[in-house]
Amino acid sequence: MKLTIIGTGYVGLVTGTCFAEVGHQVVCVDNDPAKVKLLQEGGIPIYEPGLEELVKKNVGAGRLTFTTSTAEGVEKSDVIFIAVPTPPQPDGSVDMSFLERVARDIAAAMTSYKIVVDKSTVPVQTGDKVAEAIKRYGKARVEFDVVSNPEFLREGFAVEDLMHPDRIVVGVRSQRPVPALQEIYAPFNAPIIITDINSAELIKHASNSFLALKISYINAVAVLCEATGANIQEVAHGMGMDERIGRRFLHASLGFGGSCFPKDLSAFIKIAEQVGYDFRLLKEVQHINAAQMDRFVKKIQETLWVLKDKTIGVLGLAFKQNTDDIRSSPALDLCHRLQKEGAVLRVHDPKAMEKAKAVLKDVTYVEDMNAVAEGCDALVIATEWDEFKKLDLDRARKALTHPILFDGRNLFDPAEMERLGFIYKSIGR
Ligand code: UDX
Repeated sequence: MKLTIIGTGYVGLVTGTCFAEVGHQVVCVDNDPAKVKLLQEGGIPIYEPGLEELVKKNVGAGRLTFTTSTAEGVEKSDVIFIAVPTPPQPDGSVDMSFLERVARDIAAAMTSYKIVVDKSTVPVQTGDKVAEAIKRYGKARVEFDVVSNPEFLREGFAVEDLMHPDRIVVGVRSQRPVPALQEIYAPFNAPIIITDINSAELIKHASNSFLALKISYINAVAVLCEATGANIQEVAHGMGMDERIGRRFLHASLGFGGSCFPKDLSAFIKIAEQVGYDFRLLKEVQHINAAQMDRFVKKIQETLWVLKDKTIGVLGLAFKQNTDDIRSSPALDLCHRLQKEGAVLRVHDPKAMEKAKAVLKDVTYVEDMNAVAEGCDALVIATEWDEFKKLDLDRARKALTHPILFDGRNLFDPAEMERLGFIYKSIGR
């Protein structure tokens, strides 16, 4: 099928590329000419495992093209996906200006029936607003349908998640666009759930909020584990074996971050507030997440006593593994808090150092993870990169002034670390 994707961020670029990979003819539109040029030349603006090869392959095969012109994108396809940012505003509500702008641009360019599919994460009832905007700004009597099709991919696993989704959610107002959506998604062999638009929009916010809740829940249980001598990993394992609970998203950590969970939680709380419901459960999820970082910083302070002029090595800057994304990164937050206390930092991340340099100043960026510990009073693991599990622990112990390791991601076994001579402090164990 001929498809257009407007917005080449994480969701738009990966969606467009995977659609091309399964054989659709895809035009990706972005209003940033430098980005479009880079993509046309086979480069990609983000780090995402497997994506660069797929972009190159599909550009080469002529199935994936890039343009800055929305009008061209609208003209070339009958189905237009919107995947533009919906960033948070200071009060937690969602900034809908990019989406509204795109809806107007699509409307202005439409000369025949189009299916306009929203992939951006939006507050419930946005579909109605998009339809109104298109009607208001469109040419007279051009028919269209608005569809909500939220995306559930995780950064760092985006290609894998998009190619093998658990489910596809399609929210519609009439049955007319359904066959086209079924055809687009047929190659992905996943159950397609057809709902009304409001429900589809709610599914996205409710899912992300639930996952964030799951992480805060296990982090709260981790506090009890620390206080009682229990081990959070054993507790999580024992809980997760119950299929009703499930094992995933039960990793205790120094807190969740990223461009989705914090923003979607705030948005969902705000949406609830606007319809008169005080979603206190989710407010507590936020509190637990913030407290988790406080507790971790306190643990470092209590162990090192005074942080001023102490040198601390930090492994990890990205908000999670397999990405160079530093948006709302707990690791960066931690770095800033340690700096505020006067600590001197030596930092490393396998992919995020370039992006971090713009916001994390006055630190030493170390290329080799095994060299970070040199001259440090303590080492901290802040991101769950698999690479860090292969850290040369013997070298690190010898390089540290004191063999202290704070593990915010529970990557190592406490008994083993003790045997190796470390003072090892992790989460909930
Ligand atoms: C999330 C959702 O998983 C995805 O479905 C949605 O489309 C976008 O938001 P993402 O933000 O890319 O994806 O990352 P995710 O893997 O969910 O991790 C989010 C944060 O939670 C990270 O900071 C991660 O380190 C943390 N996390 C995750 C935990 O602390 N513990 C866990 O068990 C899982």
